[in-house]
Amino acid sequence: MTAVIRNVTDARARARRVLPRVVFDYVDGAADDEVTMAENEAAFRRLAFRPRMGFDSGEPLLGTTVLGTDVAFPVLLAPCGLVRLMHPDGAFGVARAATSRQTAWVLSSVAGVTLEDAASGGGHRWFQLYSSGGRDEAAGIVARAEAAGYEALVVTIDTPALGNRERDARNGVRSPLRLDAHTAVALGPQVLARPRWALRMIRDGVSVMRRPGPGDGPGGSTPSGGLKAAGAVAMLASPFTWSDIEWLRGRWSKPLLVKGVLRGDDARHAADAGADAVIVSNHGGRQLDGAPATARVLPEVVDSVGDRVEVLVDGGIRRGGDVVKALALGARAVLVGRPYLYGLAVNGQQGVEQVLDVLRQEMSRTMRLLGCGSVKELDRSYLQDLASEGALDSRT
Ligand SMILES: Cc1cc2nc3c(=O)[nH]c(=O)nc-3n(C[C@H](O)[C@H](O)[C@H](O)COP(=O)(O)O)c2cc1C
Repeated sequence: MTAVIRNVTDARARARRVLPRVVFDYVDGAADDEVTMAENEAAFRRLAFRPRMGFDSGEPLLGTTVLGTDVAFPVLLAPCGLVRLMHPDGAFGVARAATSRQTAWVLSSVAGVTLEDAASGGGHRWFQLYSSGGRDEAAGIVARAEAAGYEALVVTIDTPALGNRERDARNGVRSPLRLDAHTAVALGPQVLARPRWALRMIRDGVSVMRRPGPGDGPGGSTPSGGLKAAGAVAMLASPFTWSDIEWLRGRWSKPLLVKGVLRGDDARHAADAGADAVIVSNHGGRQLDGAPATARVLPEVVDSVGDRVEVLVDGGIRRGGDVVKALALGARAVLVGRPYLYGLAVNGQQGVEQVLDVLRQEMSRTMRLLGCGSVKELDRSYLQDLASEGALDSRT
């Protein structure tokens, strides 16, 4: 029988019971003291709504367009590494869930599957690129992503060094998570404590643990390759600069997004370099601990480039109400990471669908209670910042 998922917190609790600790911590953890991760969630909670009464707004319209892609509601699935560790459905489950719920999904460079294989999952697929092997490798990957039908390129720029993920270290694995024969033995007891997960993996042929090929790696000839693909070395080799973004722009004719922007001036750099959108993101708090919550900097970014490019946001979205708040602050759409990974761990593709359904229902109810009939009508007049008295939009 399929487990019911009532909300994202519920999905997280269930994922914790399903996954070996090392895997749960890989997903659930963040950098250093995990302050930024906690702040991401808290910042959305701190924002209060200013509902309008006396309207019959009807069934709220949640559909919109994100970079030319029609989505049934503006919640996209963020790029996440090693998805197959959650469940054998892996990237295919993610793709199929996004497709059945009419939204877009982003394949990570280090998802643990080649971009060609993952493309067979179908749907509106975007590809996320890390700087790794410099322009030569990037050129090859971009050409492959285009040939495989990816509709947008998401360039992650917040990894000039890898965040200090202490939970991974405490669990005895190198960060970023890497499972080889040595760690598999060391982690034996944790895995045995989660027989359902272990059985799934064995049935799946433990393919997620296969030895990576020579070209594996974020920028290798087979992104996303094996587990070693998450290797820090590859990720850090040569961080993208704004001139690299400009160069990528010249090679990629479809929508280009820059992920990891936290300041208005950086958003302008991205727009100047030819990006079509920026994703306000601190990598779910997994990179620079102490980076601001994304809900706090979203208005600055929207105010600086909102008239030139689309602004998306991720980090800490756990309720449909958080999605509504992000849109009211000016985001075109949001992405979620951990929420759908928890769902994937619990019920595979169906679990991702359950999480999307929950967020959608929550969004719809929130909009109704708010007195707003369409996501396109959301603006800052619907929000009150509890930290500073009064409406966020001084015009109202
Ligand atoms: C397990 C995990 C793996 C991730 N891997 C990647 C990645 O490969 N590339 C990337 O750009 N972001 C990666 N991220 C960051 C997400 O794309 C996204 O920014 C973040 O999860 C949003 O925060 P949330 O988890 O609170 O929704 C990862 C996040 C998690 C939780």
